[in-house]
Amino acid sequence: MPDQPTPAPTALPRVLSLVQPTADSLHLGNYLGALRQFVDLQHSVDGFFGVADLHALNELPEPAVLRERTRRTAAQMIAAGLDPEKSTIFVQSHIPAHTQLTWVLDCYTGFGQASRMTQFKDKSAKRGFDSTNLGLFTYPVLMAADILIYKATRVPVGEDQRQHLELTRDLAERFNARFGETFPVPEPHILASVGKIQDLQNPEAKMSKSATSPAGVVELLEDPKKNAKKFKSAVTDSGTEIRFDEENKPGVSNLLRILAAFTGRSIPELEAEFAGKMYGHLKVAVADAVNDTLAPIRERALALLAEGTELDRILAEGAEKAEAVAQATVREVYDRVGLLAR
Ligand code: TRP
Repeated sequence: MPDQPTPAPTALPRVLSLVQPTADSLHLGNYLGALRQFVDLQHSVDGFFGVADLHALNELPEPAVLRERTRRTAAQMIAAGLDPEKSTIFVQSHIPAHTQLTWVLDCYTGFGQASRMTQFKDKSAKRGFDSTNLGLFTYPVLMAADILIYKATRVPVGEDQRQHLELTRDLAERFNARFGETFPVPEPHILASVGKIQDLQNPEAKMSKSATSPAGVVELLEDPKKNAKKFKSAVTDSGTEIRFDEENKPGVSNLLRILAAFTGRSIPELEAEFAGKMYGHLKVAVADAVNDTLAPIRERALALLAEGTELDRILAEGAEKAEAVAQATVREVYDRVGLLAR
């Protein structure tokens, strides 16, 4: 019998996303809005997930703080379930090709187009002219390089990054039109909105690392007892009814949404279950459900950070895999734009 040709492996879609190391711990919103979804995605895609330390540099953090946050962010990604056997997990600055491609893309990005990025406009307005650096301006081009260098076809991002994705798509199209088919034009994979996860103390505002008080922010690396306390003192309202009503009951609605996200149950189901019960019951249920998931993640992350060599090994392996792909793309791009081969 003639040999059967081995069937070509079906190429999985290449998915890439990076998380900025801008806090000592990720919070509940990061977990539900990004991390957990990366973990679910990784089984059906060729995933590249990284820590965007070069992006974080534009906020001029203390060196030791940036280094520590980079490790913590990577440890939390792994602890939350990103599996180095399945996905490529890496630190952006370990792959010099990102900045090499950025320069080339800088040269093909219009000043006008970059000036229209709303995140740049917002952040530079907040910082003021004298405190706005060029890194903030070219931030979206570095992000485009992160994506295009792996020829990613799908990019899971939050709604706030949609415009940066549009820029990336434009750059890919422009480059392909001028130099021939080089980059797939990546599709945004706008992360399933678990709805907005709001600050527990200020349910009108999004849960955010820049919250005025830590009391409203539930962190992955926080002691579970402290997180339970935060839920117990969450702001609700002067009523008694447990009902989803964002306008009149933003605090209760936020707790219901979090409980739904962690239990996989629907909000109407939860409303029925808590009919006639007190806010205190809801708060305990939310704290328990959240801690059931987060406590083991925290333990794994802290163990990885304390031990160290395992984390270093995973990141070194990730860098090696990522670098092989990234370097090949840079070589191809340099050649196409006319940079002389060494
Ligand atoms: N800018 C993204 C954010 O703040 C992080 C990021 C950097 C990213 N490079 C990326 C996301 C590439 C997706 C793809 O969320």
